[in-house]
Amino acid sequence: MVCSSSSSSVNFLFYSLVIFLTSTTILASYGGRNETDHQALLKIKLMISQDPYGALTSWNNSLHFCDWTGVTCGKRHRRVTSLDLMSQGLEGSLPLHLGNLSFLRWLYLFNNNFQGAIPHELGRLSRLRFHNLELNKFNGTIPHNISSCSNLEVLDLSYNELVGSMPKEMSFLSKLTFVSLGNNNLTGGIPPFFGNITSMKVFDVVENPLGGSIPDTLGRCKSLTEFYYRNIFGSDEGEADEMKFIDTLKNCTRLEVLDISYCNFHGVLPKSIGNIPSSLGGYASLLWLSLEGNFFQASALDYIHNHCIPSIVHGDIKPSNILLDDDMMAHVGDFCLARFLGTSYQNSSTGIRGTIGYAAPEYGLGNEMTTSGDVYSFGILLLEMMTGKSPTDNIFNEGFSLHKFASMIMPDNVTDVSILNIYQEDGIPVQNNEANVKKIEECLASTIKIGVACTVYYPPERMDIKKVMHELQHTLDTLQNI
Ligand SMILES: *[C@@H]1O[C@H](CO)[C@@H](O)[C@H](O)[C@H]1NC(C)=O
Ligand SMILES: *[C@@H]1O[C@H](CO)[C@@H](O)[C@H](O)[C@H]1NC(C)=O
Ligand SMILES: *[C@@H]1O[C@H](CO)[C@@H](O)[C@H](O)[C@H]1NC(C)=O
Ligand SMILES: *[C@@H]1O[C@H](CO)[C@@H](O)[C@H](O)[C@H]1NC(C)=O
Ligand SMILES: *[C@@H]1O[C@H](CO)[C@@H](O)[C@H](O)[C@H]1NC(C)=O
Ligand SMILES: *[C@@H]1O[C@H](CO)[C@@H](O)[C@H](O)[C@H]1NC(C)=O
Ligand SMILES: *[C@@H]1O[C@H](CO)[C@@H](O)[C@H](O)[C@H]1NC(C)=O
Ligand SMILES: *[C@@H]1O[C@H](CO)[C@@H](O)[C@H](O)[C@H]1NC(C)=O
Ligand SMILES: *[C@@H]1O[C@H](CO)[C@@H](O)[C@H](O)[C@H]1NC(C)=O
Repeated sequence: MVCSSSSSSVNFLFYSLVIFLTSTTILASYGGRNETDHQALLKIKLMISQDPYGALTSWNNSLHFCDWTGVTCGKRHRRVTSLDLMSQGLEGSLPLHLGNLSFLRWLYLFNNNFQGAIPHELGRLSRLRFHNLELNKFNGTIPHNISSCSNLEVLDLSYNELVGSMPKEMSFLSKLTFVSLGNNNLTGGIPPFFGNITSMKVFDVVENPLGGSIPDTLGRCKSLTEFYYRNIFGSDEGEADEMKFIDTLKNCTRLEVLDISYCNFHGVLPKSIGNIPSSLGGYASLLWLSLEGNFFQASALDYIHNHCIPSIVHGDIKPSNILLDDDMMAHVGDFCLARFLGTSYQNSSTGIRGTIGYAAPEYGLGNEMTTSGDVYSFGILLLEMMTGKSPTDNIFNEGFSLHKFASMIMPDNVTDVSILNIYQEDGIPVQNNEANVKKIEECLASTIKIGVACTVYYPPERMDIKKVMHELQHTLDTLQNI
């Protein structure tokens, strides 16, 4: 996704569309209190030194802890099953007591400023399925006790300051489907045991000084659909490694995304690749580059060997270019302005400037098309969906933009969610009970925040597409798990 940034943006447009279609049910009831969980939560609160948005204000004795912000309990046993404090600007560290929340299944602390070590006691959370600590400042090593979380499906520790190697005990986590450890300081290569986790679908270790080479055993990961491993072929032996690597992945027939985009790519793209969008008739699927089952046809072989996968700048993302198929899957069409880039932030040259309202302001100043321009257009789309206001609405002028409007309404006076009709997959409206409304409001608020961060005037300050992806995906998960 890093290598094809603009397709990611569109991919996440899909997620945001799904927000309106996703089923949500909540089981709320009131019962006894479990003192162990209560004490653990209080300890967590105690270790938090900054809470700029008052996320933990409700964590007081006037409410049962199951009703505290971000806490969800099981209906019958009244034990904490989910702790969700994402994007709250929290600063602090995690207490060992976290390991006492033995019914915890979802731990979402992503996009805060937590620091210090990830406690070994996490290993006691045997029911844990989703473990998302990305975008914090956790340091130290990945605790090897994590291997005791035998139900773990999603492990996301990306964008932290972790060091050391991936613990070999992780091979016991036989249910893992998603592992993201990118943007840390991990070393020691990809350990061979990873091939033993045959359930793995997404594996992301970009931006680590990992070293080592790709183990042959990775070829056993028959479920692998996405593999992100930039910077692996920096050395002189790069070419030989590259050949071996591609051979290793031959058995991964489900592979759709292969991000090795920083390898020996030097700019010039073969004409045949540049022609793909037009040969698909102006309606290219998000992964057109992946070509699904044909991935390992001789020509693809994504070619990868010689050049690696380029990024694409779409250049004209707007509602009329987003096509929904029968499954409500979003696709981006009209690649007239698309340009291919070797790395995410290279410039491309074109005189065409996109569409008023959706084109990034720097295009108007004669700057060239960049992926951050696509991020801007995507942000405008998000804000349009969230606020119902078009960027070219009469109320907007030189000094007042959709971006400003959206910044003003967040985070307190988001939409009055109770007037929105949110439907489950079977078409039945979701219950407008208080707990549902609160969760949905939080999700809308965080989606607006993302839109605002994407549409910042100055390109380098715009939210990174990877972060956009994390946040939107999380928002979707939250809605699905209500
Ligand atoms: C306790 O939580 C409730 C609910 O959020 C809040 O209204 C109240 O102000 C809180 N009390 C204190 C002392 O913070
Ligand atoms: C909870 O965890 C801490 C540290 O791991 C431990 O000292 C304590 O005894 C545990 N039990 C309870 C009931 O808090
Ligand atoms: C975690 O690992 C440490 C050793 O690194 C060990 O002392 C501790 O008992 C383990 N804790 C749990 C909860 O498994
Ligand atoms: C982790 O960060 C904390 C401060 O945030 C520091 O005190 C500690 O020494 C660091 N630990 C490691 C292993 O770097
Ligand atoms: C990684 O390690 C290098 C060298 O020790 C250090 O300069 C850098 O800040 C570290 N990066 C992160 C994200 O911790
Ligand atoms: C991987 O699995 C095989 C057989 O299931 C086992 O023999 C081997 O020890 C495992 N390797 C690691 C590193 O866990
Ligand atoms: C691919 O699968 C075949 C048949 O299962 C096996 O013989 C071969 O060793 C595998 N290759 C790799 C690189 O894992
Ligand atoms: C992109 O091109 C513009 C205009 O040619 C130039 O000012 C800018 O520095 C370039 N940016 C990058 C990242 O190369
Ligand atoms: C949001 O609410 C504040 C006061 O709570 C109000 O001043 C502001 O005008 C509102 N913004 C919009 C766009 O309604």
